[in-house]
Amino acid sequence: MKGKWFGGGAALVFVAAAVLLFTGIGSGSAKEEKKNSMRIGVLLYRGDDTFIGTLRLSLEERAKEYEKETGIKVTLDVMDAKGSQNTQNNQVERLIGLECDALCVNMVDRSAASGVIDKAMAADIPIVFFNREPVEEDMNRWEKLYYVGADAKESAVLQGQILVDAYKKNPESLDRNGDKTVRYVLLEGESSHQDSLIRTEWSIQTLKDGGVPLEKLTGGIANWERSQASALMDQWLKEYGEQIELVICNNDDMALGAIDAIERNGYLIQTIKVVGIDGTPVGQEALKAGKLFGTVESDRIQYAGAIFDLAAGLSMGEKTDAPKYYWSSQKPLTNGRELLEN
Ligand code: GAL
Repeated sequence: MKGKWFGGGAALVFVAAAVLLFTGIGSGSAKEEKKNSMRIGVLLYRGDDTFIGTLRLSLEERAKEYEKETGIKVTLDVMDAKGSQNTQNNQVERLIGLECDALCVNMVDRSAASGVIDKAMAADIPIVFFNREPVEEDMNRWEKLYYVGADAKESAVLQGQILVDAYKKNPESLDRNGDKTVRYVLLEGESSHQDSLIRTEWSIQTLKDGGVPLEKLTGGIANWERSQASALMDQWLKEYGEQIELVICNNDDMALGAIDAIERNGYLIQTIKVVGIDGTPVGQEALKAGKLFGTVESDRIQYAGAIFDLAAGLSMGEKTDAPKYYWSSQKPLTNGRELLEN
């Protein structure tokens, strides 16, 4: 699916679209005159989150590209809240004190956006939220608030579809013992994250709609983390052993944690199918190695490009008719070799 500025209905190819959505530099105010440089604050909920790390790199690359294209100097101040909303609130204040032109905010606690919005509104600094979506009520508080993300239902339907396709081609690729039931365990992201619930719901729904007979053995929350997922999977392998035929994970890092446990417990990785979401570089390596059965790649260049171009346009004081929500593209990735072998 193409990246799209939601709301206008039309799917627009992104970079050019983002630039086009900004028109004419306004005239007059001091803020607008100084513009041969800009300062953008980037606030991360956790710098050690693999997917967020890839977005950060792509943001930095896009900023360099933009400098080359426009000759405008960009300072990106990237701050890591290390999982603390208090720390992030202080970072917002610091960045406002540094006179950032725009903030790109990956909330620690997405229900706490209101406090961040208050501070930004008082200083007239626009915000592009990303990846952790504030509630609609908060998003509607001000016209200078935007959100960039990947649609959670879309990720899940694509993940489910990989499995439906595999089952249709060869039921025993998932139903290893041929008893007409695919027994699965489920690894979920943070309970407060919009992606966790929606991904879980739609992945399972897609499997059911696709006619895959399912039985859930167990599931648990591993907060997107490889080590937490690995510890849970360890327990489940001890409890259910060979009964586990499929591991459905809300992201790639948890899928990698499950794979770690499967290998550590001496199971052949090809016998238990593991699927993730994100398509991170480490996830894709595991896919190529035949350890990860499938994933859904989020187009991080497009995703980070949308965040940056929106923030840059707003920093320049340009008028924009960009809708408040931008949804970045995703695509399913499978290990074709493995599908054929089974
Ligand atoms: C999800 C992503 C996870 C994790 C999380 C952090 O969209 O799939 O891997 O990065 O965001 O908010």
